[in-house]
Amino acid sequence: MTYAFDLGNPATNANPFPEFARLRAEDPVHWSSAMKAWIITRHADVKQVALNRQISADRLTPFFKTNAEYQRGSIDSLVRYLNHWMVFRDPPDHTRLRRLFNKAFTPTSVSNLRPGIEGIVAHLIDGMEAKARRGETVDYIADFAYPLPASVIMDLLGVPRADLERVKIWSDDIALFIGTAQVAGNKYLRAEAGAKAMADYFLGLIAARTAEPRDDMISNLLLARDDREALTTDEIIGTCILLLFAGHETTTNLIGNGFLYAMRNRDQWERLVSDTSLAESAVEEFLRYDGPSGALARVAGADIEMGGRTIRQGQRVFAFMNAANRDPEAFADPERFDIGREPNAHLTFGHGIHFCLGAPLARLEAQIATTRLAERLPGIRLSGGDPEWHDSLILRGVKRLPVQLF
Ligand code: HEM
Repeated sequence: MTYAFDLGNPATNANPFPEFARLRAEDPVHWSSAMKAWIITRHADVKQVALNRQISADRLTPFFKTNAEYQRGSIDSLVRYLNHWMVFRDPPDHTRLRRLFNKAFTPTSVSNLRPGIEGIVAHLIDGMEAKARRGETVDYIADFAYPLPASVIMDLLGVPRADLERVKIWSDDIALFIGTAQVAGNKYLRAEAGAKAMADYFLGLIAARTAEPRDDMISNLLLARDDREALTTDEIIGTCILLLFAGHETTTNLIGNGFLYAMRNRDQWERLVSDTSLAESAVEEFLRYDGPSGALARVAGADIEMGGRTIRQGQRVFAFMNAANRDPEAFADPERFDIGREPNAHLTFGHGIHFCLGAPLARLEAQIATTRLAERLPGIRLSGGDPEWHDSLILRGVKRLPVQLF
């Protein structure tokens, strides 16, 4: 097939679904010469990629090997902490990190966040209303979907609100390493400086929580240290940085994309407004229909046969969750946005051993946000044209969504 799927193409990035449909039907295990990777689009195959132990989650090691800054030793802090991200590890490292982390991130620690989330949501809706009354433009992303998960994840970790801005700047700098954004200067060195500053900051917080534990994630992670397989300080710092990343923009985009489609399908919004007990299944449909996840990125650890093709050892594999989520083999009438859809076996939180650890938290945030918006702002509507999508392989979300509240 001469056709090459390429998310770098702005039209494909804005609406990848027609191409996903074509690939699922005609070339479900597709070699993209443009992306230099295998593109996997069927529901059953995406699950296989996640489950196959010969397909590695460690895409850092091959990347580092070809990175000039790494060879020069100028991104040592980044390497030091990113190497502890469980999402990049295979068993047995992954098993150990995930088990220890699970001790700190319990169902109780998530449900304890409920009153805090309610408070943040109420405060942000008040803020949007105040802006609208002053005649200022309200951007649903900047004014609601972005700050909500940022505040929640900081609260979860135990980062004081006053430090939010600083942590955000370092976090954006580290993201330069992972993302595709073009910036002035050397993005790897900026990411390295961000990683250093963030690590120093968390070292300070670890010292404070060691002296005086609180009811937060860092204190819990320090307690998980008492285990005989203790977490090292580097692993704790690495995990805190991972949580900031994993827990923030993913959830922003869930709350953002879901809202966009609820507005575009007004009948579904009205349905929710008249029965907010649908919030739970609505959030599952937000996750499925155009969810915030891009591709599961993997590297073949051996030659693998899939869909009649041979994926060679060392080649990259991108398994697209949003493509799987509209597979007619897995969903009835998959192109229909239905907030009451049942069953809904979407793959947006991944599958297998790396299944998202934050799924209960992301669901809770989105359910509370959706319910309170429907109750307090039933007349909310989009006021801009077609939104611009972020250019990213990992995340899927829009940059801005201007809205009218009343
Ligand atoms: C892993 C999606 C929110 C923490 C993952 C994976 C996906 C995902 C697809 C698997 C990655 C892979 O297999 O390579 C999402 C989405 C979210 C979300 C769509 C929001 C809507 C969160 C939140 C947190 C979090 C709020 C933390 C508070 C993690 C962690 C992992 C992970 C720690 C790694 C698990 C492992 O490797 O075993 N997430 N996530 N995520 N997520 Fe989430």
